[in-house]
Amino acid sequence: MEPIQDNIRERFPLLARTLGAYPLTYLDNGATTQKPEEVICAVERYYRYQNANVHRGVHTLSQQATDAMETAREKVRGFLHAPSAREIIFTRGTTESINLVAAGYGHLLQPGDEILVSQMEHHSNIVPWQLACAASGAHLRVIPVTEQGLLDETAYRSLLTPRTRIVAIAHVSNVLGTVNPIAEITVLAHRAGAVVVVDGAQAVPHLPVDVQALGCDFYAFSGHKMYAPTGIGALWGRESLLEKLPVYQGGGEMIGRVTFEKTTYADLPFRFEAGTPNIEGAIGLGAAIDFMDSLGREQIHQREKQLMAYLHEKMSRIEGLTIYGNAPEKSGAFSFNLRGAHPSDVGTLLDSQGVAVRTGHHCAEPLMDRYGIPGTVRASLAVYNTFQDIDRLFEATQKAREMLLG
Ligand code: ALA
Repeated sequence: MEPIQDNIRERFPLLARTLGAYPLTYLDNGATTQKPEEVICAVERYYRYQNANVHRGVHTLSQQATDAMETAREKVRGFLHAPSAREIIFTRGTTESINLVAAGYGHLLQPGDEILVSQMEHHSNIVPWQLACAASGAHLRVIPVTEQGLLDETAYRSLLTPRTRIVAIAHVSNVLGTVNPIAEITVLAHRAGAVVVVDGAQAVPHLPVDVQALGCDFYAFSGHKMYAPTGIGALWGRESLLEKLPVYQGGGEMIGRVTFEKTTYADLPFRFEAGTPNIEGAIGLGAAIDFMDSLGREQIHQREKQLMAYLHEKMSRIEGLTIYGNAPEKSGAFSFNLRGAHPSDVGTLLDSQGVAVRTGHHCAEPLMDRYGIPGTVRASLAVYNTFQDIDRLFEATQKAREMLLG
């Protein structure tokens, strides 16, 4: 496959916008990505020609909508290289995927069991586990992060004990960009008898992901960070574990037979999909997967790797700039602060120059506490970013620095 060129931007209508006198420099992709024509058209086509409820009707439209949705499920299976589409559950996104697993384990865990999370987790991979602990009497343990932004491997090894039932870990940190060694983490966790739940939200947009090669047990991600609509995502889970996981929500679709005395549940994956699903979202997610496959997942990874190297090199030239996260393998997120300046002031001044970044704690307050900071400025990449975007970020940050610090 060909390397990706800058003209990929032309497939994203929103990127043609200007902000005042400035062209839009969109570097908030860790929060959400812009959408290509293919995805916008797939959602529009669904509403113009296919809209009907799924899995319910004998009529033609309902069958066509069902086929479109199940085709999307198969695309997600291929995207993650999962063994079976029965293991793909559509959810609202990463947060719901993790809550689904954690709520189920809240019923299965026993007092004294332990759940390991890392210090670099997003709140959505912390709070659901705190709820599971409250429901079961299990305890949360935390794997520390080194100054460089890596998981402390020695500490991880010593935290793993026969009491460890779950290791919940980000594939890629949404703040530091650190790519965690999931395959190695999983080997050690399995040796201790624990199940591995991966938050893949910040990984799937950037890296080829193969859940069988990673060896983990659950993998959660969101569509909107990988060019698909908001409100759709998926959970992959190992079939043998999903079969034992208590159901999440009750309602239509997820049942086998309902009587007032007893209800039985549907087969996988439907037993975890109560209610009318986000049909257009699933179809849009399928279109986003087609879009990424047409570029090549490895090509996306290579292009962003070059952008990340340039981002590091260029921004390091700014006096008084601290970079958070210096892992050898880093993807997506680039966090920094200017000495003496509050991140939100820097973000506001960047915005006034057309540069969109996220500032604050990035839903990772324990990580901010680790570094003793209130927040960071975060530039985060997508496939359509260019070297010129990074030059604009550099120039705008220099200017912000002059305005704030003289
Ligand atoms: N979790 C998203 C982020 O990191 C919203 O920005």
